Amino acid sequence: MSLKRIATTLALSALAAFTVSLIGWQVRAETNRVQFPNLEEMVHYTTVRRGNVMEHIMTTPAAMEAVKNGQPIPAGTHFVLVDHRDGELYRYFVMQKGENWGADYDASRRTADWQFQWFWPDKSINMSENTARCQSCHRSQQGSDFLFTAYRIPRFSGTPVE
Ligand code: HEC
Repeated sequence: MSLKRIATTLALSALAAFTVSLIGWQVRAETNRVQFPNLEEMVHYTTVRRGNVMEHIMTTPAAMEAVKNGQPIPAGTHFVLVDHRDGELYRYFVMQKGENWGADYDASRRTADWQFQWFWPDKSINMSENTARCQSCHRSQQGSDFLFTAYRIPRFSGTPVE
């Protein structure tokens, strides 16, 4: 191998290593503490319909009790929005609260101790979503613990509120 060839090979492998480390950084940047929940343990309390979109929104019985009693929603709680398009499962939007999880983010981005994640039907994470977007929109609901539909929970008595 000529010296020039060796130099080119080295440069290319350095570039490849750099690219891999960049991708690795992105992967870490987009995963967070949110775990996919056990849907069997959750209560589907409301349905939102918009055109071909149908959303089943659910949370845990403990969180439902807390909201009904005006108590804080406990750490560990999940809220899930099961998003269907034309009757087919499309994706899961998940919010999860954990003790001091807000400390992972700058104050300007923080949504108290909630973190957000987008899961595909096979429960893999959508790595091209920046969950700061989720937080930015849900920050408008700061007065109701960053939730848009919790106000419907007290009206729930067995059938999802529409
Ligand atoms: C542009 C605003 C906006 C963005 C961005 C957004 N949401 Fe929401 N989210 C809503 C609205 C509005 C609702 C209430 C249901 C509806 O009207 O579709 C909602 C409902 C939810 C719920 C059900 C609990 C609740 O608040 O009622 C979850 C869980 C959720 N979103 C997670 C996410 C995740 C995860 C992301 C990012 C991947 C995200 N959201 C991005 C506006 C937004």
